[in-house]
Amino acid sequence: MENFIFQNQTKIIFGKDEEHRVGKEASLYGKKLLLHYGGGSIKKSGLYDNVIKSLKEQNIEIIELGGVQPNPRVSLVREGVKLCKQHNIDSILAVGGGSVIDSAKAIAIGAHYDGDVWDFFEGKTQVTDCLPLGVVLTIPAAGSETSGGTVITNEEGSYKRAVGHGNMRPAFAILNPVLSYTLPSYQTACGVTDMMSHILERYFTNDKNVELTDRLCEATLKTIINNAHTVINEPTDYAARSEIMWAGTIAHNDSLNTGRTGDWASHDIEHEVSGIYDIAHGAGLAIIFPAWMKYVYKHDINRFVQYANRVWDVEIDLNDLEKTALAGIKKTEEFFHSIGMPITLNEVDIDVEYFAEMAEKATERGPLGNFVKLKKDDVLAIYHLAK
Ligand code: NZQ
Ligand code: ZN
Repeated sequence: MENFIFQNQTKIIFGKDEEHRVGKEASLYGKKLLLHYGGGSIKKSGLYDNVIKSLKEQNIEIIELGGVQPNPRVSLVREGVKLCKQHNIDSILAVGGGSVIDSAKAIAIGAHYDGDVWDFFEGKTQVTDCLPLGVVLTIPAAGSETSGGTVITNEEGSYKRAVGHGNMRPAFAILNPVLSYTLPSYQTACGVTDMMSHILERYFTNDKNVELTDRLCEATLKTIINNAHTVINEPTDYAARSEIMWAGTIAHNDSLNTGRTGDWASHDIEHEVSGIYDIAHGAGLAIIFPAWMKYVYKHDINRFVQYANRVWDVEIDLNDLEKTALAGIKKTEEFFHSIGMPITLNEVDIDVEYFAEMAEKATERGPLGNFVKLKKDDVLAIYHLAK
């Protein structure tokens, strides 16, 4: 096990009706707040009205910025930064999913910076300070509600880039599983795939003696697999929605990579796909992750055998470990397909046109991944395997 520091300051408030506490929680961080949200799902569901009521009860002054799109754009972030500076905003409240939260995080760092916020994403400047951030989560998926990362797309050049810093972790996150009842099944499935991928990125490590985190990863994956079909077929099943919502947070709050180094190549390879084609991140991962697995499994057959056996209950064939490893990968693909995810680029109408460009962009800052280091030609090969 490697040395590690684990610090995750986000206060989690979980359960039915807890969004009514948002005003009280937000009031701890000042009286002038930027309310940030997406394309309208929160207005349709009534959540917007409840949030406004709760904030007003605490006499919080609200400046609004809606319109965050999935794969959030830097242009809206720049608008948010401007509003924060103009109105002397004390804190930001993100009501929505990963895209809204990430956009809010980027605004939060930009508000304390004199230059252009994209500088952070190009590595021209580092995060030091940022505005406090609160979250009301509506889709369990990205795990951004407790993560220290933000992923933003620059429409000029279709660059999708991430910035990470512990200071960006939200101060509080309200998780009411009922708020996810209104999710279309496709979005639910994208969320399930994303959270599973966050665990898999951590699971495939070269570190030895990481049994506890291996077992925690396996338990979280199994819980997601056991509840995924229920949330898709019975969207208002509170018990299953609760398991999935909590699993989405656990998957990405960094407890599952204590003492180990994860991989993260599949995320980088996927970000180029959703950066250019604007597909849902989860759908992109359902395509890329199995292709990555097929490309790298020989690097550590035993780890893939363990995965197949413990997560998918594949019986270990001691005479043919490769067969066992491949069976685990196949089960992964079959599962993604069974919840309505695409597993080939062809299924989302993506052909070879930009493969070379995507591989180039993905590796322009160096090789990807840690389990196996991938160069441009490796990434290109993975795009071809994902065809
Ligand atoms: O915009 P609205 O109208 O709210 O609709 C959203 C959006 O269209 C809708 N939705 C959300 N909650 C709903 C709902 N519709 C009905 N009922 C509800 N309760 O769902 C759509 C997708 O929302 P989005 O926020 O884009 O989804 P998700 O949470 O999957 O976030 C994806 C983004 O997060 C990034 C991804 O790259 C992608 O840009 N990620 C962020 C990470 C992080 N910061 O730590 C890590 C992840 O790996 C990921 O890269
Ligand atoms: Zn992800």
